[in-house]
Amino acid sequence: MIVWVTGAGSGIGKAIASHFAAGGATVVASGRHADILDTFATEARDKGWNVLAVPCDVTDADSVRAAHARMVDASGPVDVLVNNAGTTVFTPFVKSALADFDRLVATNLRGPFVCTQAVLPSMLERRSGTVVMVNSMAATHVFPDSSVYSATKAGLKAMTDCLRFEVRKTGCASFQACIPASHQHRELILGGRPIGSARNTPTR
Ligand SMILES: NC(=O)c1ccc[n+]([C@@H]2O[C@H](COP(=O)([O-])OP(=O)(O)OC[C@H]3O[C@@H](n4cnc5c(N)ncnc54)[C@H](OP(=O)(O)O)[C@@H]3O)[C@@H](O)[C@H]2O)c1
Repeated sequence: MIVWVTGAGSGIGKAIASHFAAGGATVVASGRHADILDTFATEARDKGWNVLAVPCDVTDADSVRAAHARMVDASGPVDVLVNNAGTTVFTPFVKSALADFDRLVATNLRGPFVCTQAVLPSMLERRSGTVVMVNSMAATHVFPDSSVYSATKAGLKAMTDCLRFEVRKTGCASFQACIPASHQHRELILGGRPIGSARNTPTR
């Protein structure tokens, strides 16, 4: 089984990639930093896992298409895509920068769209394949200073729901996993203050 995990060099993506690799899958690990991915692939090899480092930037459609071509050449068609790469910033609506809005949309919403479009034709042809979106409770719940991040995750939820409907009779599947904010993440967002009072808290 070939599993492509975006944002696999750290955090939740690395944990997902490790889980699949430990289970015997061939994992394609993507992210923007080749050195981080190479280190992960080397660590994985030492454990007897099969992890292929294929860097790409999900905000760059050409980079995604080139990476997809490389992984198909090296390992064959992708069976499972995990759209995990994501980024955020927590800022009051009125202070949110347009550049941050564009970056978050490009990474959290357009990125999964571009990656899914790369793998889906082959999945539909083979009548087999799964696309997983790593989503957030922010798609459906209110978090302070999270209007931009929440908008991208709500958009991702809507896109996933429509995709699931479209592919429901094709043998392919698409679903999302909504990750609750971790305790540490929540502390970072709220800075120990009550919900609704956080201002200019750090990004992660
Ligand atoms: N942590 C939480 O509490 C939490 C809660 C809910 C949802 N989530 C979601 O879970 C996912 C992973 O979050 P995390 O906490 O594990 O974040 P993280 O530790 O910051 O990891 C994000 C990963 O995405 C990669 N990435 C970022 N921008 C990219 C781009 N343009 N192209 C390719 N890769 C990119 C990063 O690698 P490079 O920088 O090397 O590219 C990094 O490996 C995200 O979608 C996030 O929204 C997290």
